Amino acid sequence: FSNFLTDNYGRRHSYLRMSLTEKCNLRCQYCMPEEGVKLTPRAQLMSTSEILTVARLFVQEGVDKIRLTGGEPLIRPDVLDIITELRKLKGLKTIAVTTNGMNLERMLPKLKEAGLDLLNISLDSLVPAKFEFIVRRKGFHKVMEGIDKAIEMGFNPVKVNCVIMRGFNEEEILDFVTLTENRPLEVRFIEYMPFDGNKWNFKKMVSYQEMLDYIRQQWPRLEQLPNAKTDTAKTYKVPGFQGQVGFITSMSDHFCGSCNRLRITANGNLKVCLFENMEVSLRDVLRSGASDQELLEIIGAAVGRKKKQHAGMFSISQMKNRPMILIGITPQRP
Ligand code: GTP
Ligand code: 5AD
Ligand code: SF4
Repeated sequence: FSNFLTDNYGRRHSYLRMSLTEKCNLRCQYCMPEEGVKLTPRAQLMSTSEILTVARLFVQEGVDKIRLTGGEPLIRPDVLDIITELRKLKGLKTIAVTTNGMNLERMLPKLKEAGLDLLNISLDSLVPAKFEFIVRRKGFHKVMEGIDKAIEMGFNPVKVNCVIMRGFNEEEILDFVTLTENRPLEVRFIEYMPFDGNKWNFKKMVSYQEMLDYIRQQWPRLEQLPNAKTDTAKTYKVPGFQGQVGFITSMSDHFCGSCNRLRITANGNLKVCLFENMEVSLRDVLRSGASDQELLEIIGAAVGRKKKQHAGMFSISQMKNRPMILIGITPQRP
């Protein structure tokens, strides 16, 4: 495994998340401020070929899983071409997408044909009016149709990401567990995390322990399943249910010690940690005509600066960090 992708704590980064766009067709409250975000001019975003060059280099050094994110990755016009080209990279085992599901039903056959392996779909409420309140747009039924069609087409596992916020959707936790009764889904409850403009506060966050206690009141036999060391989620199952549930505990029980992820923002910055705003522009290095070796040295130096763990719940709620939708750009700070 490449030295460039191994950090000072021995963590090997074999999982790359690439943001394809800063744009989104939803406006989730926990992701971006009401007024939206200032988008990077198009010329400063990574082109198709720059994305593929960076991907090729990371795969050559040992990355075996790439997740395409955004913004909403499925609104990038060349997303199918990108997947088709990624599929040709020897050594890349898994291509995944995290999507809000709005365009999914329509695009699924083409995504499958291009070679997509895995899908994570965001869905925060099972009540249409509440869905609309949280994402500030209509579209609940489109997302549900996308989820069901993904299952039908044999994507496995299909994961549903559900950010739980007190006062918004915490009373729907049991309904989301019930969704796994007859569907082979993995519903993942995510602790609400602080990012610029999302009005996070400690009281709005529902912790892993609290969610677990709540579910156990209804299903005392909820059983824990084994997880890979690098999984973000701790998974459980109600005996007899087809699917399972997971908890992503970034806040109350971080999993930094086994982190294997790196990120590239839509404007080409390498971000070595979700909660660290030090970023390096790979786009600028590429555009300066640098060789693969020079690029790798810059990547290696950034990975070498990766901290052991994030600064803790209270510090990260105070720090400046780009809104989730821009995790992938240079912070626009006064
Ligand atoms: P899998 O590959 O299926 O495990 O997906 P994932 O959980 O890595 O990715 P997804 O895009 O579905 O993200 C779901 C949630 O995982 C996000 O909201 C974050 O809470 C959390 N997450 C993803 N990557 C990181 C990371 O690098 N650090 C932390 N702390 N949380 C992360
Ligand atoms: N806290 C937790 N999860 C978040 N996501 C976006 N913003 C936040 C936040 N503030 C989730 C989305 C998506 C995933 C990539 O990140 O729901 O599923
Ligand atoms: Fe769009 Fe995803 Fe952010 Fe919602 S969480 S606004 S779907 S990028």
